[in-house]
Amino acid sequence: MDLTIRPRRLRSSETLRKMVRETRMDKSSLVYPMFVTEGENIKEEISSMPGQYRYSVDRMGEKLEELMDAGVNSVMFFGIPDKKDEMGTMAYARDGIVQKAFAQAKRHLPGMYLIGDVCMCEYTSHGHCGILKGNDVDNDKTLECLAKTALSQVQAGADMVAPSDMMDGRVGAIRRILDTNGFAHIPIMAYSVKFASAFYGPFREAADSAPAFGDRKTYQMDFHNRREALREAALDVGEGADIVMVKPAMAYGDLIREIKDHVQVPVASYSVSGEYAMVKAAAKMGWLSQERMICEMAACAFRAGTDIYLTYFAKELAGYMDRGLIG
Ligand code: PBG
Repeated sequence: MDLTIRPRRLRSSETLRKMVRETRMDKSSLVYPMFVTEGENIKEEISSMPGQYRYSVDRMGEKLEELMDAGVNSVMFFGIPDKKDEMGTMAYARDGIVQKAFAQAKRHLPGMYLIGDVCMCEYTSHGHCGILKGNDVDNDKTLECLAKTALSQVQAGADMVAPSDMMDGRVGAIRRILDTNGFAHIPIMAYSVKFASAFYGPFREAADSAPAFGDRKTYQMDFHNRREALREAALDVGEGADIVMVKPAMAYGDLIREIKDHVQVPVASYSVSGEYAMVKAAAKMGWLSQERMICEMAACAFRAGTDIYLTYFAKELAGYMDRGLIG
């Protein structure tokens, strides 16, 4: 056969396949999301996320050390308070759960990079991401609470804050409060393109944060939209976001790529709790290979333009990189 061009030539051995590989991944891009809860001696499995736990502050060190040993040096903390109220006041309490976790981690594991998810939904009795006015979230009133929350996390030891509430103007509000309190050097990673998604289901079980009524569609994005995604990312960059995020990751690879092509800041993507649960469920049934699914999902995110990948599989991925299954 007279075939000059044969793409298979470059696939003939593992060495050659790796030599011509287009997407390279690195452990330094991985962030592990972690739930910290009030109480003592708690390591409690999340039923819809087998293998993931809520840790009390006195037990979280075990997990953090395990991550560092695997080469994962960044975590994002979600706090689970023991009491919630209408206004979500425990989100910014000096002795709030996440503040205690930051202080402890900073003291004992200074090599770990600490990111704070900034939102009200884990702390409000109604489970919405802000302060209510009637049956909806009052955008402008919520901004003040979010700003206070971000500041309190940074004061406690957070190295970066990541607002996930989807209120308009929150990046600017957080930037201002950080700057006026001597934290101009702290970066903001904005959950800029965050969709109202079924894939957050297990997280809401983990954080006991499902809305008591209604849904999050008046603030999180409609998943049919792409131009709006570009608009949200551009707005956040304009307000001072240092990094923008697309969330979820798996069903939104197109938008990771588009955002990457449109902004000049690093792009994060978040493989959320529902993605984790799907992988676990299919693997448990024996229908699909867990490690191969995890590798393909991560490669998609990076191929699409992800610089920072938030995933509950961070430790597993680091192991796969060591074994040469991915990277
Ligand atoms: C808080 C927040 C959520 C997630 C990250 N930050 C839940 C939500 O918006 O309902 C979801 C993360 C995941 O599903 O893994 N607003």
